[in-house]
Parts: sequence; structure tokens; C-alpha cells
Amino acid sequence: MKAELLLALTATAAGTICHGFTIPPPTSTRGLTSLSESSSDGSGGEFALLFDCDGVIIETEELHRLAYNAAFKEFDLKIEGGDVEWSVPYYDVLQNTVGGGKNKMFYHFRNTTKAFPTFDGGTAAPANPEEEQELVDRLQARKTDLYKELIAEKATPRPGVLELMDQALADPTVRVGV
Ligand SMILES: *[C@@H]1O[C@H](CO)[C@@H](O)[C@H](O)[C@H]1NC(C)=O
Repeated sequence: MKAELLLALTATAAGTICHGFTIPPPTSTRGLTSLSESSSDGSGGEFALLFDCDGVIIETEELHRLAYNAAFKEFDLKIEGGDVEWSVPYYDVLQNTVGGGKNKMFYHFRNTTKAFPTFDGGTAAPANPEEEQELVDRLQARKTDLYKELIAEKATPRPGVLELMDQALADPTVRVGV
């Protein structure tokens, strides 16, 4: 009941679809044993197909970008009179540079624009780190809600992913997990 091969699907933040790779048999099979035990028919899998979430099952990068921009627009963020908007190529770089939503915004305002925005139709830009944090917290909270709406409306699985899952689920030698 030892998995000899793990096929892992991964995606880079830039959106590369997937790649498979092999790893040697693990020295501890504890996690793999419990994976087998949890199967309904009691049979063990020779293979495991593991999916990552973001970017693998669904291409989410663009939806994150749209949600940020929608939040920026709602808050009426302006820097020197200009809107704050993340383009596709810029967001791609951001994705690969900074982890986490709030960190992306801090990076943008501190490293890229080197200024925090005014907001809500002219409210002065944050004047100290506490105010900066507060604005970023509010933006992130709103972005999260907008993102959930976008996922509900627009998210579709990547081509072939559901077919691959169905094939793997139908094969008793393959365990499937997220
Ligand atoms: C942003 O700028 C700061 C200060 O110059 C620097 O220390 C930091 O490494 C920069 N962040 C990234 C992700 O480049």
C-alpha cells in the first residue's frame, strides 16, 4: 500500500498550467496510509493525484486582479489625481514578487508608487503606518467580498481538469486529493 509515484499538479503564480513530476518512495507512509484508509472501498491506491487549489483547478489570478481593481475603484483611490489600477502585466509581476494581498498593496504603495492614495472622494492619504494599515485592511476586506462574488459568477475549471478528475476517480489504483 505504498505509493510509488506521486503525480502532482502545480501552477506557478504566473499561470503555467501544470506539470507532473515523480518523487522517490517516501520513507514514512503514515500520511499515505491514512489516505488509503479513508477510501470508501478500502482498497489502497498505487498512485495519488494531488491538486493544488489556486490556479490549478481554476484560473484565479485574473479574478483576483479584477477584484482588487474593483475595490480600488469603489474606494476612489487616487494618487496625484490618477486612478489606482493593476494591469495584467503588472499584476503578473506583483504575483511573482510579493505573497499575500495586503503585502501586495503595501508593496505597490511603498515600492512602486511611493505614495499612498487619497480615497473616498478626497480623504487625505494615510499619514502614518497605522492609517496605512487601516486603509489596506479595509481594501483587503472589500476585495475579498468582491472576489467571492466574482468566483460565484465567473469561475470555470481549467480545460480538461474535470475530465482528468473523473478519470482518476474512476480508477481504483488512484487516490485523488486537494
Ligand atoms: C520594497 O522596498 C523596500 C525599501 O526600499 C525594500 O527593503 C524591499 O525589499 C522592497 N520589496 C521588494 C519585494 O522588493
